[in-house]
Amino acid sequence: MARLEVKIGDLSFKNPVLTASGTFGYGLEFSDFIDLNRLGGFVVKGTTLHHREGNPYPRMAETPSGMLNAVGLQNKGVDYFIENIYPDIKDIDSNIIVNVSGATISDYVAVCEKLNELDRIKAIEVNISCPNVKQGGMAFGTTCEGAAEVARAVRKAYSKTVIVKLSPNVTDIVSIAKAVENEGVDSLSLINTLLGMAIDVERRRPCLSTITGGLSGPAVRPVAVRMVWQVAHAVNIPVIGLGGIMDGRDALEFMLAGATAVEVGTANFVDPAVTMKIIDYMDDYCNRHGIEDINDIIGII
Ligand SMILES: Cc1cc2nc3c(=O)[nH]c(=O)nc-3n(C[C@H](O)[C@H](O)[C@H](O)COP(=O)(O)O)c2cc1C
Repeated sequence: MARLEVKIGDLSFKNPVLTASGTFGYGLEFSDFIDLNRLGGFVVKGTTLHHREGNPYPRMAETPSGMLNAVGLQNKGVDYFIENIYPDIKDIDSNIIVNVSGATISDYVAVCEKLNELDRIKAIEVNISCPNVKQGGMAFGTTCEGAAEVARAVRKAYSKTVIVKLSPNVTDIVSIAKAVENEGVDSLSLINTLLGMAIDVERRRPCLSTITGGLSGPAVRPVAVRMVWQVAHAVNIPVIGLGGIMDGRDALEFMLAGATAVEVGTANFVDPAVTMKIIDYMDDYCNRHGIEDINDIIGII
């Protein structure tokens, strides 16, 4: 067996395979299909301060080699998570990471302070693709100032591992990555979905109620690999790569580009056991190539 263990900040992962927020529920939904204890980690649904209904339907559309979604962070809020979900997942032997979203800085801070009290949550992943309501709805993550402001506030409010998840809908991902790194966070994950749009020509209407939505799946992978490669070589903190990973080969592409770990999203909808296959593939790949420690191939491109 090759050594698959990786580290993000102070946190050890038994292997580099995590699941992506919004595509894996709270983990338990997948327990009939996979042994959750085998995962390096899993990132639960986007969690906000208050309950959110999400956007009206239709909010998903299939596109060539991918999908558009506009779920709109539907969740029951952080207090519901703490009281009703956390007790059921806390004994899973994997790193449980909560994805945090907010419309204002004080929302982010309030959610982080509550999560900081939970022993078994060892890290948060901060979604900065959310619209900043005080700045006219432009996402925090599309400017260096906005991204840094969230990172700074969250770093103060949360004492354990902080991962900031970058939006790809920017001109210069490296400058945003550096602005966030400067605030002392532990890791960056990328990419979130790419802004897209699809039209039902027969009905002459947008396919999504929100008109535009987030593109994910294999269609985005080359963009994600490029961004991971650029960011991983520009910052000094570990990067988590995601975007269109469908199998073990795709996961290794991200690691060669510089990712210390990967997250698997849309692929869970196609094959709920895909993460187990990716872990097995990584082990087999290392054995075939005489690699004793997967860390030796991170960022060699
Ligand atoms: C249905 C759906 C819901 C998502 N919800 C969230 C979310 O709540 N928070 C977040 O940071 N990313 C969310 N994402 C983005 C994914 O975590 C991931 O960044 C993106 O889909 C790219 O990875 P993939 O191509 O492997 O799916 C969501 C994606 C999908 C498809």
